[in-house]
Amino acid sequence: MRLASALPCTLLFLASASAQLSLPDTPYTPPDASNGTQVTNGSTPNAQWSTLLGNLLYFYDEQRSGKLPSNERVPWRNDSALDDGKDVGLDLTGGYYDAGDYVKYTYPLSFTIMSICWGALDVGQGYDLANQTAYLDDMLRWGLDWLIKAHPSPNTLYVQVGDGNLDNAYWGGDRDIPYPRPSYQVNATNPGTDVAAQASAAFAACSALYSNRTLSASSSTSALRNTTYASELQGHAQDLYAFAVNASGGMQTYQTAVPQSAEAYASSDFADELAVAALFLALSETSSNATDYYADAVKWYYSHNLGAQLKAGSETVFNWDSKTPGIPILAAQLASVYPDVVSGSNATLQTWQQVVEDYFDIFINIRGRSYLTDGGLIYFPGDSDEASLNPALNIAMLMMRYASAGLATSTSNQNRYEQFVQGQVDYVLGKNPMFVPYIVGTHPNSPANPHSAISTGYSPPNANASQLVAPDNLDAVPEQEAYVLYGGVIGGPDPHDQFWDLRSDWAQNEVALDYTAPLLTLAAHALASGSGDPYYTQVRAGAYDEVRPGGSPCDAAVQTGCKRHGGLSKGGKIAVGVVVSVVGLILIGLGVFWIWHVRRHRKY
Ligand SMILES: *[C@@H]1O[C@H](CO)[C@@H](O)[C@H](O)[C@H]1NC(C)=O
Ligand SMILES: *[C@@H]1O[C@H](CO)[C@@H](O)[C@H](O)[C@H]1NC(C)=O
Ligand SMILES: *[C@@H]1O[C@H](CO)[C@@H](O)[C@H](O)[C@H]1NC(C)=O
Ligand SMILES: *[C@@H]1O[C@H](CO)[C@@H](O)[C@H](O)[C@H]1NC(C)=O
Ligand SMILES: *[C@@H]1O[C@H](CO)[C@@H](O)[C@H](O)[C@H]1NC(C)=O
Ligand SMILES: *[C@@H]1O[C@H](CO)[C@@H](O)[C@H](O)[C@H]1NC(C)=O
Ligand SMILES: *[C@@H]1O[C@H](CO)[C@@H](O)[C@H](O)[C@H]1NC(C)=O
Ligand SMILES: *[C@@H]1O[C@H](CO)[C@@H](O)[C@H](O)[C@H]1NC(C)=O
Ligand SMILES: *[C@@H]1O[C@H](CO)[C@@H](O)[C@H](O)[C@H]1NC(C)=O
Ligand SMILES: *[C@@H]1O[C@H](CO)[C@@H](O)[C@H](O)[C@H]1NC(C)=O
Ligand SMILES: *[C@@H]1O[C@H](CO)[C@@H](O)[C@H](O)[C@H]1NC(C)=O
Repeated sequence: MRLASALPCTLLFLASASAQLSLPDTPYTPPDASNGTQVTNGSTPNAQWSTLLGNLLYFYDEQRSGKLPSNERVPWRNDSALDDGKDVGLDLTGGYYDAGDYVKYTYPLSFTIMSICWGALDVGQGYDLANQTAYLDDMLRWGLDWLIKAHPSPNTLYVQVGDGNLDNAYWGGDRDIPYPRPSYQVNATNPGTDVAAQASAAFAACSALYSNRTLSASSSTSALRNTTYASELQGHAQDLYAFAVNASGGMQTYQTAVPQSAEAYASSDFADELAVAALFLALSETSSNATDYYADAVKWYYSHNLGAQLKAGSETVFNWDSKTPGIPILAAQLASVYPDVVSGSNATLQTWQQVVEDYFDIFINIRGRSYLTDGGLIYFPGDSDEASLNPALNIAMLMMRYASAGLATSTSNQNRYEQFVQGQVDYVLGKNPMFVPYIVGTHPNSPANPHSAISTGYSPPNANASQLVAPDNLDAVPEQEAYVLYGGVIGGPDPHDQFWDLRSDWAQNEVALDYTAPLLTLAAHALASGSGDPYYTQVRAGAYDEVRPGGSPCDAAVQTGCKRHGGLSKGGKIAVGVVVSVVGLILIGLGVFWIWHVRRHRKY
């Protein structure tokens, strides 16, 4: 049974302008975090969700690299990294800094852009309602225009600008970013199948958005329509897919060609990117070969046995590395809206619905390797140990997408999905044992110490690259961050729902392009579906200070003086701990030293 869409279809009030949207004369800027306590329930569109959506988009302005435009909204940002690409005779300035530092990575960036375009295809009305569509356009183009520069010829793609190790040794503002900033590429003889296919998927998803393709019965952000831009993006999508599939060097993960990328973003596989790229090409391609792309996607899915990653016990997350859970969902959307594209295939709408609902059932009935924390966050051991909110937000986003497209095969499943999504979103927005809404600058209890060099305002005494030293104590230098990094979704609490708000703790406190992305789509959905206030209007300011844990966290970032709360204090683990502690401390000490230097940043 197909259910009618949960979204109202009457909200398409914006005129169908076709130009690059001009930004409002009075720019949107985030209000003070104290605003997060105002109850606005009943306002239409919901004022709190509109503010949240605006703040989340503003985060990407804060992360901009290159020469900033005259209408840049973030008063404390400066032009930066203006020589990017000079080492290879190209202009690779622009784009976005990936996370808390100043490296630019194509792989997670293009995942982020794909995710946001996909969300706008689903619930673009949310952006319209919040008057944020022009900022969405601006945000996407700042990323896409850089990806275009990074793809100067069909078989060349730049995948990283900047040196991760050098960058990790620098903790300062955007005026003294250390050099050199080398540019790394993949090409026909040294290919990167995953990164090329992922960039193709981003271009194709956004081409579909800019050409006003429809992905669910009620979606549309027709204000973005620009056929010139859409076909430019489509050309890059096609070329990159052909490069991924047919490179003379064969197929391989991109860190084989560019080992430097493995410091932060080593990819585990490329079949998921190939399938997702082929599906977005099947959506964006209006010619008759859309069916060929769909057939390709089905081929990648079955020949690489991707379905095994969706089974209970080995269920995978959806993130910058792993797109597999998105495949059956996008395929189901496609099969539902464009039955002619899939008509020649044995993989039908029902095929994908079965796969999707089996996968979701793992979380609804908690019968896989993931579990709910005591506070109610879905937790994947390993994946969630660094950035616990990210897997949860991405699962919630996927479930919301499927449910609100009316694809659930029963009303009871539909209800279960909606309930699960609500639980995860509420948790992130403050319904958690810490009383923290985990978005910077949103509520008085929001994190105050994001791991972000750009927002600290710290100036190193000597930024000369040969003398770089990060301050010994990131938590104390400076005492308070100079700038509020509005809209940054941070990593998140530990498996016992505990959160320390320590700047040095990149596992909990780092921000990243891909951390904020799923909440953007969920906020747009909340607006489009007329939700009441985000949970945090009910959270008492100051409540976090009363429960803030003592000691320090135990994770990949912070281990010295580590006093584990919850888990380790229970049962026999302590006894075991005492026995191995002497040897362990020595090994951990050596490990911390090594990890801190080589791998300061997250890698799942
Ligand atoms: C459409 O996008 C292109 C490429 O970015 C841009 O040059 C053009 O101004 C846009 N079209 C209109 C009508 O504004
Ligand atoms: C927040 O503050 C601004 C003024 O800075 C105000 O216009 C707005 O209505 C307030 N409320 C919300 C929910 O953002
Ligand atoms: C969007 O803009 C319209 C027209 O200027 C205005 O009436 C409305 O209040 C704005 N909505 C939000 C959420 O800012
Ligand atoms: C930008 O430059 C100004 C000085 O012109 C400085 O105060 C500010 O901290 C800089 N911003 C960053 C992010 O470093
Ligand atoms: C191709 O990429 C590899 C890996 O980045 C690089 O070493 C090589 O120089 C590149 N080839 C060309 C012709 O630029
Ligand atoms: C975009 O698509 C929607 C729904 O398919 C349609 O109503 C709208 O007119 C289209 N807009 C433009 C500018 O073509
Ligand atoms: C790969 O190469 C084959 C043989 O030339 C060609 O038929 C096919 O269309 C190419 N695939 C893509 C995606 O371009
Ligand atoms: C689809 O057609 C485009 C040209 O219109 C071509 O570049 C592309 O390789 C084709 N894709 C497949 C899978 O045949
Ligand atoms: C579709 O066909 C492929 C082989 O071409 C096979 O591996 C797959 O199991 C089939 N799928 C279904 C749903 O029958
Ligand atoms: C950086 O330090 C090196 C070695 O101390 C020195 O040779 C160089 O001149 C310095 N550069 C700048 C820009 O201060
Ligand atoms: C806000 O409104 C929604 C319905 O729109 C309702 O379910 C919810 O309980 C209200 N919350 C508060 C705090 O009033």
